[in-house]
Amino acid sequence: GHTHRIAVIPGDGIGKEVVPEGVKVLEAAASTFDFTLDFERFDYANAEYYAQHGKMLPENWFDQLVGFDSIFFGAVGWPDTVPDHVSLWGSLLQFRRHFDQYVSLRPVKLLPGVTSPLVGREPGDIDFYVVRENTEGEYSSVGGKIFEGTERETVMQETVMTRTGVDRILKYAFDLAQTRPKKHLTSATKSNGISISMPYWDTRVEAMAARYEDVRVDKFHIDILAANFVLHPDWFDVVVGSNLFGDILSDLGPACTGTIGIAPSGNINPERRFPSLFEPVHGSAPDIAGRGIANPIGQIWSASMMLEHLGETEAAAGILDAVGAVLARGGASLTPDMGGQATTAGLGDEIVTQLTGES
Ligand code: NAD
Ligand code: IPM
Ligand code: MN
Repeated sequence: GHTHRIAVIPGDGIGKEVVPEGVKVLEAAASTFDFTLDFERFDYANAEYYAQHGKMLPENWFDQLVGFDSIFFGAVGWPDTVPDHVSLWGSLLQFRRHFDQYVSLRPVKLLPGVTSPLVGREPGDIDFYVVRENTEGEYSSVGGKIFEGTERETVMQETVMTRTGVDRILKYAFDLAQTRPKKHLTSATKSNGISISMPYWDTRVEAMAARYEDVRVDKFHIDILAANFVLHPDWFDVVVGSNLFGDILSDLGPACTGTIGIAPSGNINPERRFPSLFEPVHGSAPDIAGRGIANPIGQIWSASMMLEHLGETEAAAGILDAVGAVLARGGASLTPDMGGQATTAGLGDEIVTQLTGES
């Protein structure tokens, strides 16, 4: 089999607890499906590194990471000691930008064994992708402050949309929709209130739609779209949105499927000029960190997405099947966020046993 070189960055909080479970499952997948993973761990992008160095990353982080086939990432953020915008702009957001990971791919799926907070929803009712623009949009450092410290204090931050940036995320989303049975794409907009960037987004959606006659396209303003995620999650197949809208929808969607603790994501550079980065959607969860009760499935599902990206499709499917089987057994083998009593490591072990036993 092939050898894949993986940079492992656990980060802060529960990132340090769930990443080892992901690595454990990846190692089991490699031996079961006959390929090699060469892991190298980096102990930066965390609050301890910041306390020692006054920054989140060493100067040469780009050169250190650019040669890896993928980056397996946990979560960053420890707001008690480092302001969130400092830790995130000092690490994860640099990775997304410098490695041009312009697609944030975030599956939302209600799995057997997990209870949706939406009354009466069954597996099959919720099965869609959020495709989030990941390098521009509302996440910009363009702006500033004037009259600081006075009554007239004013802050401004610009949204940046480039034609290249908008078109490439739309193309990815339309291509994805074309591979799905429903071939349905929903665009998240707010062109009624945000009068320059969002009408532009709508125009590019229309232009792209003309090239995909087999894809059914609709759009909702983000406010009612959020409502419809709750009221009609079965309406959605591929949902594409700007950086901020995609961020919000990709916590809301997984919450509708029971817990954000299972939600995975890929930060993908589709052209493969740079390594892609795989991480759970959730953050470092300081409120439960250190207790060994975090749900490891978001991290483990992200591992499956990483293997898919690396071409190990059987192993990727094997991990998902193992996760599905363990969830379906339910009960005590689930972590507390899913109503069970399992520990992070206990659930990780059960998924490993399922994976290695079933193949
Ligand atoms: P969060 O996702 O860390 O936590 C939100 C809530 O969900 C908390 O109650 C938490 O306990 C729970 N939760 C999250 N993941 C869970 C899991 N795997 N199992 C069980 N429960 C889980 O979001 P937050 O509280 O807004 O942010 C905390 C820190 O994480 C902040 O510093 C934030 O900036 C950072 N953050 C980082 C990332 C990332 O690195 N990609 C993503 C989101 C937030
Ligand atoms: C996510 C996170 C990040 C984002 C934060 C931590 C900057 O919420 O990956 O969804 O907003 O992109
Ligand atoms: Mn988020």
